[in-house]
Amino acid sequence: MGRVGLPAPLGLVCCLLLLLGGPGGRGTPQGPWEEEQGPGAEGGLWGRAKYEAVKKHLGAVGALSKQYWQYMACKVWHEGCQEEEEEEKQSSAGPGWSLPLVGQDYLEILSTWYCGFGKCCKTGDCRIVNNITGLEADLNRQLHGQHLAKEVVVRAVRGFLQNPQPQKALVLSFHGWSGTGKNFVARMLASHLYRDGPKSECVKVFISLFHFPHHTYVDSYKAQLKKQISETVQLCKQSLFIFDEAEKLHFSLLDAIKPFMARYDNKDQLDYRRSIFLFLSNLGGNAINEVALDFWRAGRAREEISMEFLEQRLRLELLEPAENGYAHSHLLEENLIDFFVPFLPLEHHHVKLCARDAFLARGFPYTDTALDEVAGMMVFVPKEEKLFSAQGCKSVSQRISYFLP
Ligand SMILES: *[C@@H]1O[C@H](CO)[C@@H](O)[C@H](O)[C@H]1NC(C)=O
Repeated sequence: MGRVGLPAPLGLVCCLLLLLGGPGGRGTPQGPWEEEQGPGAEGGLWGRAKYEAVKKHLGAVGALSKQYWQYMACKVWHEGCQEEEEEEKQSSAGPGWSLPLVGQDYLEILSTWYCGFGKCCKTGDCRIVNNITGLEADLNRQLHGQHLAKEVVVRAVRGFLQNPQPQKALVLSFHGWSGTGKNFVARMLASHLYRDGPKSECVKVFISLFHFPHHTYVDSYKAQLKKQISETVQLCKQSLFIFDEAEKLHFSLLDAIKPFMARYDNKDQLDYRRSIFLFLSNLGGNAINEVALDFWRAGRAREEISMEFLEQRLRLELLEPAENGYAHSHLLEENLIDFFVPFLPLEHHHVKLCARDAFLARGFPYTDTALDEVAGMMVFVPKEEKLFSAQGCKSVSQRISYFLP
């Protein structure tokens, strides 16, 4: 395993934790150890002696139930599986083996305890991956036509994660028409910061009309939201909160969560400075589109559009006293938003790239004609130029179904 200065048992436990996929056993682990755990964990290298050593070690911590050990032993060393299967039949608690709540707690304690050594997982928490290199590479490959969003997001997040003591939580506000990639980038960020991606317990997604549909209940939503945020921050060293359809968030909800995003002043309270907040909205979309259209009409390349041209326009539009919560909340006035992230309207060739990705993702061959036809199914605006897809790349992956064999 060649891990300098790390006693074998400690390393082994982290492998085990990763193997199990953490509490709830979600998905494939994607920790920094992914490759190393491959052949070793399947058997061979891990001998009986090591197993006993770890068992003894953990016995000292006194934190594992018998059932839990059997599960680990079965998974890693392929022994004791029979008993376990029988137990499973008896309890018949649905498909697969699910950790009892107590087991999950133990897993947490163990993870924190062992990872406290800081060596087994780079971040000190096996659930947090912070793969910025991967994020940048994947954005370059899969996010089309958004040079500004790519640059701003990577720069902001990298800077924030490298800062040993950020003064406040990182707050990014994504703006643009629907289908331009706001959700895509938010999801990708979650997948590259957390082993379990958007499903991680450290990631919370709130969709305005789904989670907070009725204005009459706004006080109860406020309490729930605050509770969820503080609980998540308590549970995770680094949390990610995503607010989709932020333009429909009631301004008093925005104001309620303001203290979590503000500069940190109260030492007695939980520390929210390691949290990232993303607000996704179509506010300012028109301003962004006008800038993009002006550039096109002036014969300039879209890549020449810089934040200088956009930031002021965006701020002004967000303060328009319309029906949006941003204008009524104090988010902007108090400078709580660290970065505005503009998503430009997508052109015909961008939609073709989305269609290509969709074909590739399903493993089907495609022709340029097919890509053209998929792009041709979208509505392009404005009327005269027919330049931008009104729905961006939205539902492109469903539309390719017509062209599949
Ligand atoms: C980082 O992300 C890239 C791209 O998704 C991936 O190929 C790589 O395995 C990841 N690295 C780690 C350590 O998870």
